[in-house]
Amino acid sequence: MLADVRAGLFERERGGQRWLPPKYFYDRRGSELFDEITRLPEYYLTRAERTLLAATMPAWMRALHPAPGTLVELGAGSADKTRTILDAMRRARPDGVAYVPVDVSAAFLDETAARLRREYADLRVLPLAADFSTGVRVPRGLPEPVLYAFIGSTIGNLDDREAVHLLGRLAARMSADDRLLLGADLLKDVDVLEAAYNDRRGVTAAFNRNMLRVLNRELGADFDPRAFAHRATFDPAEGRIEMHLVATSDQAVTIPGLGTTWIPAGESIRTEVSNKYTPVRLGCILARAGLDIVTWQTDDTGGYALVLAAPVR
Ligand code: SAH
Ligand code: AVI
Repeated sequence: MLADVRAGLFERERGGQRWLPPKYFYDRRGSELFDEITRLPEYYLTRAERTLLAATMPAWMRALHPAPGTLVELGAGSADKTRTILDAMRRARPDGVAYVPVDVSAAFLDETAARLRREYADLRVLPLAADFSTGVRVPRGLPEPVLYAFIGSTIGNLDDREAVHLLGRLAARMSADDRLLLGADLLKDVDVLEAAYNDRRGVTAAFNRNMLRVLNRELGADFDPRAFAHRATFDPAEGRIEMHLVATSDQAVTIPGLGTTWIPAGESIRTEVSNKYTPVRLGCILARAGLDIVTWQTDDTGGYALVLAAPVR
């Protein structure tokens, strides 16, 4: 964390954009705030994906031969929508399936795992607290083949190069019968996009500021979260929402081990990008990662996509 903060906050070039990695949103409170975001009227992504999963999973899972025996989910969160995937998998594999939720938010992950164990007595749940960008070591000996899930449009929080790198590493590890299920938000009306990241109740603003609280607690930093305003705007050139924290007055922030940095009023820290894809752009990322699209479906509005992909052989 200290190295990331040094690189993003202290070592920026003169006039360059300060930034922090979005994985630092997610302590327990951050995970709870994200869960609240998924229920907001403006945040269409979760509803769109839930509807798509309900419409596709039974048929998509029935069509897989051999049927997947293990689900490995990157950035599982509360795994709420995951039940639809698990239900379809269990119908195709009555001998039992395993579930490996992977997440950086360790305490929240344990609660997710405990809830799933209570709900599904026959499910083997093996939570993995890890950063998916540095490689995921899936336990050996689990039922094969493996279905990897990367849903929620969490891929959008990576730039395209990082996305190709992560999916490419996954593809290289996949056996011929393994599959990847990817959920991705698509380009749409700017007002709809910006409303989803600027909700009226201010939950997204609280989620954004939570990163400063995480840095204060973990690194002993002295950010004043109230002195930073939430900003989320769509950048048409990049095809992404950018989320920033903007200093509302001159700020001197001290981080033990790094020193003090001066953040003048009006200057911002970018905390997240959330890419919004065209089908061509998404197809390009998958192809560069070494993945073939098996099938794909968009929702009624054409605003959200679910993709099933297989490694190129
Ligand atoms: N899949 C869920 C949650 C999406 S929120 C859904 O669709 O609603 C993104 C999730 O990814 C959070 O739970 C967060 O803790 C996790 N996450 C973010 N960056 C991560 C990283 N680098 N490694 C592992 N998990 C990460
Ligand atoms: C987790 N991720 C896909 C969310 C998104 O939409 O980019 C995180 C989020 N940021 C603000 N609101 C939700």
